[in-house]
Amino acid sequence: MTKTPDFKPCDLVIYGALGDLSKRKLLISLYRLEKHNLMEADTRIIGVDRLAETDASFVEIAHKSLQSFLNNEIDTEVWQRFARRLSYLKIDLTEPEQYKLLNAAVDPEKRVMVNYFAVSPMLFKKICHGLHSSGVLNAESRMVMEKPIGHDLKSSKEINDVVAQVFHEDQVYRIDHYLGKETVLNLLALRFANSLFYTSWNHNNIDHIQITVGEDIGIEGRWDYFDKTGQLRDMLQNHLLQILTFVTMEPPADLSAESIHMEKIKLLKALRPITSRNVDEKTVRGQYTAGFIKGNAVPGYLEEEGANTGSTTESFVAIRVDIDNWRWAGVPIYMRTGKRMPNKRTEIVVNFKNLPHNIFKDSFYELPANKLVIHLQPNEGVDVMMLNKIPGIDGNIKLQQTKLDLSFSETFKKNRIFGGYEKLILEALRGNPTLFLSREEIEQAWIWVDSIQDAWQHNHTPPKPYPAGNWGPVASVALLARDGRAWEE
Ligand code: BG6
Repeated sequence: MTKTPDFKPCDLVIYGALGDLSKRKLLISLYRLEKHNLMEADTRIIGVDRLAETDASFVEIAHKSLQSFLNNEIDTEVWQRFARRLSYLKIDLTEPEQYKLLNAAVDPEKRVMVNYFAVSPMLFKKICHGLHSSGVLNAESRMVMEKPIGHDLKSSKEINDVVAQVFHEDQVYRIDHYLGKETVLNLLALRFANSLFYTSWNHNNIDHIQITVGEDIGIEGRWDYFDKTGQLRDMLQNHLLQILTFVTMEPPADLSAESIHMEKIKLLKALRPITSRNVDEKTVRGQYTAGFIKGNAVPGYLEEEGANTGSTTESFVAIRVDIDNWRWAGVPIYMRTGKRMPNKRTEIVVNFKNLPHNIFKDSFYELPANKLVIHLQPNEGVDVMMLNKIPGIDGNIKLQQTKLDLSFSETFKKNRIFGGYEKLILEALRGNPTLFLSREEIEQAWIWVDSIQDAWQHNHTPPKPYPAGNWGPVASVALLARDGRAWEE
């Protein structure tokens, strides 16, 4: 049996340790890694912020956030082990002198210093300079950051330039938490380990592909961030484009970060630009109005807490994407994502082409085409919709559409399905960059998205209203209907 290699322990320093990201996601994921004994025994977690005063108050805040986000999942023994790893430094990140405190807290000889920037990108420059001048970094140190990496190409370049002054590209780990999701990673296995799909994954066999990322939540008190950002930049520029690249890129030579990045960049470069000439026919912007989700009344976007009632920010976007390369010529990819949809649902539907001739007209005037449905969340799994003969000896052959259903939780009963953050934090601690984003791919994604954003602005395309609890405005249905297709419902 191959033994899991031992990894070097880390000093994980979280800047913004008392902020939302740290409390909601990072501390919880770290606790879960502890629970499953996945962290090196000597790894330490150092919270940096300017609000709490002492180690004890940080430990108490961490415990409270676990209590509120994990409910009664806290195991006393695991918590005690976890709490022993925690310490705290009170540092004002805007004060360069204060970074010297880190020198006494970390031990770069024995542990890799992993710097998690869980703060606004406005502070990145100060942190990078503070770290550099304190002399605490070495060639092994890493930095972790996540979206938003800018709000357009220009600002993204500025952030990356600031970081590049202090960290070499291979020390930088850019997170998109969708790349840590089990089912997104399974796309690699599905496509490149199964000849059935490997040979049929192209324009000869596939009619079109749909990618849906729907959330039932609204903007969750994040008006200031969301209204400046919108759904195109909050979700599509990153999560949906990442899913798209995994579904459509060419096979990488191997699973190294370099090979995967190269294929993703090639794919992003092949996306046909959407400009002011075709934006109104290829995209739909929407904004939710008051409605009902699972029977409960919810406010409209403009009635959210802190709202500016004149806002034209979109909370929904649907797009027809064309990929100009040999594999995908003539195969549209339809993507949609929105807040306040009827339920949380992330799925990919690969629609195969119809057969050229039908000999089962007694059952279907037109044979329904095969479909591969990949459920990313919830209920992770894969379904194949196919036609089967209904058993019986009486009369003609009668067909029925049936589902081959592979549910991950049923099939892999003994394996826990971890969340994206747990996987990615673990990879960052272990120094495996494969699932992180390269600077070039983020910039390439911005080039394509900026063109859409500019086109909307140029054409003054207002968002179309949709009542909360619906799959977006009617125009989204029309986007596919124009091509003789319909969204998978
Ligand atoms: C974040 C977005 O990146 O992803 C949020 O900023 C969104 O607006 C969230 O709600 C969705 O993540 P998940 O894992 O719940 O699908």
